[in-house]
Amino acid sequence: MVASDTDGMVRVWDPLVRIGHWVLVAAFATAYLTEGEPEWLHSWAGYAIAGTVALRILWGFAGPRRARFSDFVTGPGRVIAYLRDLAAGRAERHLGHSPAGGAMTLALLAALSITALTGMATLAVEEGRGPLAGIVTAQSLPAWAMEMEEDEHEHRARGEEADALEEIHELAANATLLLIALHVAGVLWASRVHGENLARAMLTGRKPAAR
Ligand code: HEM
Ligand code: HEM
Repeated sequence: MVASDTDGMVRVWDPLVRIGHWVLVAAFATAYLTEGEPEWLHSWAGYAIAGTVALRILWGFAGPRRARFSDFVTGPGRVIAYLRDLAAGRAERHLGHSPAGGAMTLALLAALSITALTGMATLAVEEGRGPLAGIVTAQSLPAWAMEMEEDEHEHRARGEEADALEEIHELAANATLLLIALHVAGVLWASRVHGENLARAMLTGRKPAAR
């Protein structure tokens, strides 16, 4: 049983999950729209994402019940079954993340991590700066990254390695954006099927108790 307030609402999302979520939204929009320039704003937005994601992953093991991975990570079978039920308009309502919401949470955290890390790698190889300077170098790039570079940017005056990484970083950013579009569509869809405003719950942290 979950303690419910007098108005029939229950607390589901703790402040770290909620504030973290809206920091991710603001920082992703900033990093994506700045596209690398001005660099200080772009990289600080990226670091805000990396820090928030790292904290959220720790919270997935140490946080309260609804924030824990053990509460919402399920196998692909349950995710597919949930999506099928959602399409048929009869999906079971979940107080925490649904199986699809849980899978999307993992996918978003992974995609954001990869995008931020490839950004740091670009900066390290291109200019020898940032947290990965000296750790990621031109020599540590895989052969396919170099080939990709040679095909597309033979003529560029800048370092080949940096261009290849920037290309990969941009690809990661666009793949993340695609996931975000699916994420928002899923939120709106599930909100409709369950007749509740999931986005508002991510702001207030509260959802109606079992109905
Ligand atoms: C840059 C854009 C976005 C990113 C990176 C993002 C990322 C995430 C992540 C990582 C989670 C998992 C939350 C957790 O357990 O910590 C989540 C959940 C959620 N997000 Fe977003 N989000 C974005 C945009 C949005 C927008 C625009 C909305 C509003 C429509 C939204 C509504 C939600 C809701 C309602 C949940 C909870 C889903 C559920 O009930 O299972 N998100 N988001
Ligand atoms: C997850 C957050 C991030 C997103 C969504 C993002 C997105 C982008 C995009 C769309 C571009 C433009 C690529 C192009 O047009 O070629 C870009 C470039 C770049 N990003 Fe990021 N980025 C993120 C994080 C980072 C981080 C953490 C760093 C470094 C600390 C970084 C460093 C760079 C650099 C150096 C460039 C190339 C700038 C240039 O030379 O024009 N990014 N990023």
